[in-house]
This record gives sequence, structure tokens and C-alpha cells, in this order.
Amino acid sequence: MRILVIGGGGREHALAWKLSKSPKAEKVYCIPGNPGIAEVAECVNIDIMDNEALAAFALNHKIDLTVVGPEAQLSNGLVDYFNSKGLRAFGPTKAAAQIESSKAFAKELMQKYNIPTAKYAVFTEATKAKAYIEKNGAPIVIKADGLAAGKGVVVAMTLTEALEAIDLIMSDQAFGTAGSQVVIEEFLTGEEASLLAFADGKTVVPMVAAQDHKRVFDQDQGPNTGGMGAYAPAPVVTETIRAQVVREVLEPAIAAMNQEGCTYSGCLYAGLMITADGPKVIEFNARFGDPETQVVLPLLDTDLVDIAEACIDGKLDTLDIVWRKEAAVCVVMASGGYPGKYAKGAEISGLQNAAKQGAVVFHAGTAEKSGCIVTSGGRVLGVTALGETIQAAVDKAYQAAGEIHFNDVHYRKDIAYRAISRLAGK
Ligand code: AMP
Ligand code: GLY
Repeated sequence: MRILVIGGGGREHALAWKLSKSPKAEKVYCIPGNPGIAEVAECVNIDIMDNEALAAFALNHKIDLTVVGPEAQLSNGLVDYFNSKGLRAFGPTKAAAQIESSKAFAKELMQKYNIPTAKYAVFTEATKAKAYIEKNGAPIVIKADGLAAGKGVVVAMTLTEALEAIDLIMSDQAFGTAGSQVVIEEFLTGEEASLLAFADGKTVVPMVAAQDHKRVFDQDQGPNTGGMGAYAPAPVVTETIRAQVVREVLEPAIAAMNQEGCTYSGCLYAGLMITADGPKVIEFNARFGDPETQVVLPLLDTDLVDIAEACIDGKLDTLDIVWRKEAAVCVVMASGGYPGKYAKGAEISGLQNAAKQGAVVFHAGTAEKSGCIVTSGGRVLGVTALGETIQAAVDKAYQAAGEIHFNDVHYRKDIAYRAISRLAGK
């Protein structure tokens, strides 16, 4: 089979890496890819927002299966366009991707179908939004409705912060039109976890639960980032909680999407808060998580090509999806200053040595310059290691990360700390 991956970050490196291991994969392409992905796929530079150009490439290169990584392409109707040309693509249609691209859509869906989530209200006028905040008080959570590259959420601990967030999102339009509508939510407390699932429109099969680390510094300090590391399985998601999420969240969400006329197939990502009242949905994403994918896919034993095909064909119920009984940890190595300003073009050394330690180094923000690999983004690499226990995987991932050097590198030293203290009974 000839396979195409769309995207060029750490998640897409993990997707291309896993797909390329399939005995069915004759050839893997990635648009645009990156230097790490180039080790497992042929990278091609085409504008990934140009559906016509992407479909022309897929038709010319006789692509049998396309896997779409990022949300922007899904909500740009890439899967719809490919389907209209008779091309097979893994991922939701534009209508189904609304579960991520509009927070108001997702909240209304959850309310209508009784899927547990924070209480909320939606506003298009700043004065009404502010009146609601004054009435409900802080802490409270303000979210721009549309896609804001993971930045459109303000968890306001004080009334002042909450009111300022309305000015920022609605009046100053800090996130552009994504903020013309806001969702204001009840503040939830608990531990967060991500449960990703494969879906084929009717059947939904959860993956191993993962936990991301969104803050830039150790002990969850500093600003939010795209994710500084992840591990799986996340012990906060016990067997009981996992079964509850399948029953109360994933299955009803797939049934609801059908009912609403936007059948969901692809990867459905449930971002959860495990509260004292049980798991509640913080957000749905219409795609694989980043960096969750970098820990989940290395634990997947089953051929991802078979799973993607079963999702497209509505035959997920015929597959037995098997996971390795190990743990995986991914340490994200970032450019100093990220998520604020950071330098690019720093030469990266030690990648081979890290691989010799048995880690897989997924590239996120790298580029090639005169035969060297250099930094080109905030999140640069994701160093993933497997182990029999989370602690073993942590040790191996940090040992490998220690082999890698670039100017002003920053990474968290405490990835998986919650799991380790939970497992130690603390
Ligand atoms: P989101 O982009 O919706 O995932 O939100 C980003 C982060 O904000 C989440 O990972 C949570 O840490 C936090 N957050 C979002 N919604 C809530 C909520 N209702 N209560 C508490 N924290 C939240
Ligand atoms: N890891 C968070 C996300 O992919 O949205």
C-alpha cells in the first residue's frame, strides 16, 4: 500500500513511524514532514491547506490511504475533499471535526446527550459575558469558541482576570474570529488525562490512557504550552474510570454525532478531568493528541494500517486491538524561551547516541541546514522510551535525552511525576 501522512510535527512523526512498520506499507509519503520523518517517509513540500493540490498529489502517486494529523486540515475539509475524489482518508469530515473546531458545538452536544462536562454558557456579547462572570464569580474558565492553536483558554482564578479575559478574547480579538463567541465554564478540579479512541462511525475502541504536561516548568508551573511531555498508561484512569468514560463519554459521543447527521470516524480525543464526581470532559479533539501520540502508538501492537482501514470501512468491530503491557514516556525537548520568544537554527547533536540508548526520538521543530539538524520550532524533539514500569521508562527517556544537546535547550525533569507518586501510594 501507498500511504500519505499530512502534517509535520512530533505527532506526525509518530504516525509515519508506526505506519511505516506495517508489512502492508510499500511506500510512505509525508506532506510536509520534517527531517526526522524523512528517515521513515519521503517528505514532499505542498501547501497543506490546499486540498486540491494535496488530492492531485495523492491521485498522481496512487495513494491508497491518507492519515491526517492536525485539526486545521480536518476543519478545512480535507477528508471531505479526498472522499469526493474517491481517495481514502482516515479522519473526520469537516462537519464531524466541529467537535473540536467549535467549543460551543461540543458543549451543546454534551448537554443534549448527557455527556458529563463542566456547566457552561455561550456568549456573543462582551457585556452579557461579563454580567454572567460577575454573577458566578471566580475561579471560572473562559474559552474562545474557535480554533486558537491551543491558546484560547483562560483559567481565571480571580474576577479581574476573568473580566480581562473577555476584553482580550472578545474586544481585542486576540484569537481573531475564534473569539467572536466565548464559552464560559465552571472551574473543575481533579487530575487531567487524555483518552484517545479509534472510531468508525458506530464502534469506538479506546487506546491506552495518557497524561500530557501542559505547563512549561516542573511541578506544573509557568505558562501553558502545546505539551512538554506525556506518558501512558496513566494510572489515574483506573479500569473502572476507563469503563465509565467509554460508557458515559465515548459511546454516547459517537451515537450523538450520528444522530446529529455528522458521523464521526477517525481518532476521537477526550480530554478529561477526573473529578471527585467522576470523569468530566474538558474538551474533545478531532485528531490524535500531541505529545500523547508519541507514547500511545509505541504501545500499539496491532497494525495501524489495519485499524485505519477498519475505521474508514466501518469494520472496527471485526478487529482485536492489542496493546503492549509496558509503559511509555515522552520527554519534549524545547527551545529556551518557548512558549514565548525563542531562537531558531541551533545545531542539534547526540541524536544517534540517544537512539543507541533504545529511545525513539520524534522530531517536532527541526530543519536540515548544510547537512546538520537544527532547531526550527518551540517544541523541537520528543524523546520516547518504553519500560516495564513507568519509572523504568522515565529513566530510559531521561538517559537518552541527556545525550542530546543544543544551545538553550529546555525540558521538564519531572515527566510522569503524578503517576510515580500515585503508584508509590503517596
Ligand atoms: P483546553 O484547550 O480546553 O484543553 O484547555 C486548556 C487547559 O485549561 C486544560 O488542559 C485544563 O488544564 C484547563 N481547563 C480547561 N477547562 C477547564 C475547566 N472547566 N476547569 C478547570 N480547568 C480547565
Ligand atoms: N496534548 C494536547 C493536544 O493534543 O491537544
